Amino acid sequence: MGKPIDYGKYLRLETLLNSQKPESAKGSNECHDETLFIITHQVYELWFKQILHELDSVIGIFNCEVVDEHDLFKVVARQVRIIEIQKILIAQLTVMETMTAMDFLEFRDLLIPASGFQSVQFRQLEIKLGLATNKRYAVDQEYFLGQLSASDRKRVERTESEPNLFNLVEAWLERIPFTASRGVDFWVLYQEAVNAMLEGEERIIQAHRRGSEEEESSELKNVNSTRRNFESLFDQQLHDELVAEGKRRFSRQAMLGALFILLYREEPILQLPFNFLTNLMDIDEHFTSWRYRHALMAHRMLGRKVGTGGSSGHEYLKKATDNNRFFVDLFNLSTFLLPRSKLPILSNDLKRDLDFHFQAVP
Ligand code: HEM
Repeated sequence: MGKPIDYGKYLRLETLLNSQKPESAKGSNECHDETLFIITHQVYELWFKQILHELDSVIGIFNCEVVDEHDLFKVVARQVRIIEIQKILIAQLTVMETMTAMDFLEFRDLLIPASGFQSVQFRQLEIKLGLATNKRYAVDQEYFLGQLSASDRKRVERTESEPNLFNLVEAWLERIPFTASRGVDFWVLYQEAVNAMLEGEERIIQAHRRGSEEEESSELKNVNSTRRNFESLFDQQLHDELVAEGKRRFSRQAMLGALFILLYREEPILQLPFNFLTNLMDIDEHFTSWRYRHALMAHRMLGRKVGTGGSSGHEYLKKATDNNRFFVDLFNLSTFLLPRSKLPILSNDLKRDLDFHFQAVP
């Protein structure tokens, strides 16, 4: 038996609790709120570390040719943990906001040119989720990476060269079986169901004419544009155009795989995959909510001043909120959902493939 373990030593509290060194304390006038500023950032970095730990394990599970179904349970549990941490990350901004803009001004200039741009872990989180630096919006990459020290830059570049969750999920969705099994192409049935639904809508518009002919034709035009939207699922050229315009990221095959899971989420085999996709949307949504809340906080602290890292401050952060999403395709898939009553009825064979199998031995 070794020495009994000690609370403080186990948690390395000596290092941890001696790691708050306010810049203002170097002069004669230590600013009271700088300690809060430091501790809040440190707590964030610790949670980022935990999220990276969970994310790495999910990426590890997906980084193979066949994802073992048994592991999906573990993946979903880890995603839920990430989501719970994200809720804390959003909530704790209010602690930072107990510091007023005037109090922040007392030490802000001492921090220049340090800024959140230099959070390597935040950058790694974005990259591992699928937002490579060159996919980020409105940032001059040289300027952006230029904020990092040479060794931090290397760490970020190494992360960029590793597999990311977006690409791995895309490949997994492309491999989803079922839709072309036993000589039946499910998507032919789906397209028939969509056509029947849209024709029904056109009939309703024509039968219940409320306004002028022009209004009716604009409603019919809307149905037509919905039709084109659906076509983009099956027409490679239309799909490629959306990708080129930055409106879609997943491959067409991956979109179809995800759509099948969303449509038949209640089938036993698809329940965990459905939870998995829902959690990806939750992670995206919480990330975006954090960005938005952080932008608001920066606004109240800085007004229209520039950030310590040299960006336009609140304006930059607001744009980054809208334009740096990970799994926006999953959100857009709701466009292609049909009411349950209008879904193609699955063949008995396919139903059985999607079921749990158990046969009691008499
Ligand atoms: C007084 C509080 C804060 C203010 C006024 C503020 C302001 C800003 C500004 C203006 C930027 C843009 C970069 C720049 O030009 O500096 C930024 C970026 C960033 N900040 Fe904060 N921030 C605050 C607190 C926090 C906290 C508590 C965190 C937690 C880790 C944080 C994390 C980040 C990150 C990760 C970025 C980079 C975001 C991106 O590139 O999209 N900030 N912040």
